[in-house]
This record gives sequence, C-alpha cells and structure tokens, in this order.
Amino acid sequence: MPVLEVKNLTKEFRYSTGIFLPVISDVSFRIEKNERVGLLGKIGSGKSTIGLSILRLLEPVSGEIYYNNKRVDNISKKAFRSYRKQFQIIFQDSSSSLNPVYTVDEQLKELFLFHKLCGRDSVDKHVDNSLSETGLKPEIKTKYPHELSTGEKQRVCIARALISNPEFIVLDEITSSLDVVNEKIIIDLLIEIQKKRSISYMLITHDIKLALFFCNRIMLINNGKLVEIEDKSEDKISEYFKS
Ligand SMILES: Nc1ncnc2c1ncn2[C@@H]1O[C@H](COP(=O)(O)OP(=O)(O)OP(=O)(O)O)[C@@H](O)[C@H]1O
Ligand SMILES: [Mg+2]
Repeated sequence: MPVLEVKNLTKEFRYSTGIFLPVISDVSFRIEKNERVGLLGKIGSGKSTIGLSILRLLEPVSGEIYYNNKRVDNISKKAFRSYRKQFQIIFQDSSSSLNPVYTVDEQLKELFLFHKLCGRDSVDKHVDNSLSETGLKPEIKTKYPHELSTGEKQRVCIARALISNPEFIVLDEITSSLDVVNEKIIIDLLIEIQKKRSISYMLITHDIKLALFFCNRIMLINNGKLVEIEDKSEDKISEYFKS
C-alpha cells in the first residue's frame, strides 16, 4: 500500500491579465513506505506547487490525493487536520519557517503540547530527545532563531517536523542555503532518521548529483507534466536541464 498516491493533479494560477494557466496538469505518482523519491525540475516548473498541493497548503483545482489509501483531497479542512501529523514539509528557508520571537525551546514545546504527545511534566525531556535526534545540544534551547547558524536552524526545522512522528516528509530544497559540508551532514542525518523511523521522503531539488545520491527513484517535471526517469545517469538528466 503506498503511503501517498496522487492521481491527475492539476493546479492553475490566475494571472493579472485574468487568464488562468495550469502550472501542473494531470500529475500522477505513488510513494511507497521508506522510499526516497526525488522531484527534479527547472526553476518555476511547479515542484513546490506539487509539494504544497499534496499537503493541501495549496488547494489543487482537480485530481485526487490518497494517504494510506484514504482519499484526503475532498474532505473538509477540519477533517484534514488529523492527517497533518502524518505528512510534513520542510522548506529551504529555515529562517522564515521558524517563529523569530520564540526560543527553540518554546517552539518545540508548543508542538508537543499542541499534538498532545506528552504532558507539561515530561515536555522538557521530550524537547531534549528531539534536539538530540537531530544532533543538537540542549544548550541551544534558550536561543532565538537569529542566534542560530543556518545548519542549526535547518536541524531545528527537522526536529520540529519529526515531533508528530510523520510517515512522509516533503523536503523542499532544504539544503539549498547550506554549504557542502552542512549539506552532507543534513542529508546523512535524514538517512539516519529514516532508518530509525521508517519515513518516506520526497526531495524537491535542482541538484542532480544530490538527487542521484539521496533518492531511490527520480521524477522530473517538465511543462507541467511529470515523468519518471528510468535512465538515472547524470548525463541523461543534465540533457533535460540544458534543453
Ligand atoms: N501563488 C501563486 N500565484 C500565481 N502564480 C504562482 C503562485 N505560486 C507559484 N506560481 C507560479 O507557478 C509556477 C510554478 O511555481 P513553483 O513555485 O511551483 O515552481 P518551482 O519548480 O518550485 O520553482 P523553484 O525551483 O524556483 O522553487 C511559477 O511560474 C510561479 O510563478
Ligand atoms: Mg520551489
């Protein structure tokens, strides 16, 4: 049973001229348990639109979305809230993902309590475990986002996404603002976490080398259409980016 199945997803945006243009059309794919699937495509090709649509952060115009064989695109926003725990997204820009006026401790605690994953008596311990899983020391707790390095911020975002014990995480260009050393650390960390927790990932990226290293399967979006890449050689995929 796939963790996620998307059938004929279409999303269009209205331009200032009043015309509606499809960004993605008839996009269908499945993601199985424990898979790491890459979604490659040029700038503006619709990658983030797909990521946001499957989490209903953008409402698709048409199509069907199934989480563990349950259709979720046609249920109310309120009913969908119970699925939000299972499906998470992490963005490139960790600075704007974190709330600047709360410390790391406050931001993580709030989520544990919101999802009713523990009581106030044990929340400190849960926050410490959550930080330690992403390689962060407890001392970081009292810091505000602007006091963290970019790599630390991205780890806090990962820790935050893991709190609700998700089955699937969309990683939207999460290493684009990191240097190569930090990128390697974060990618290895995600693989490590997957081994322990059985999570499926969809990595959205422009980086062919990264996708080839990280992903078991690669999909490519071109002119709003999705294609599965059979020939996973760097040269073949690069050809598409040059065309
Ligand atoms: N809210 C919106 N209103 C109108 N147009 C939008 C909106 N969001 C995205 N678009 C347009 O849809 C297209 C696809 O955008 P999207 O962000 O999905 O691309 P992307 O592949 O993630 O690009 P990038 O690699 O730059 O992140 C772009 O042309 C973009 O301008
Ligand atoms: Mg994008």
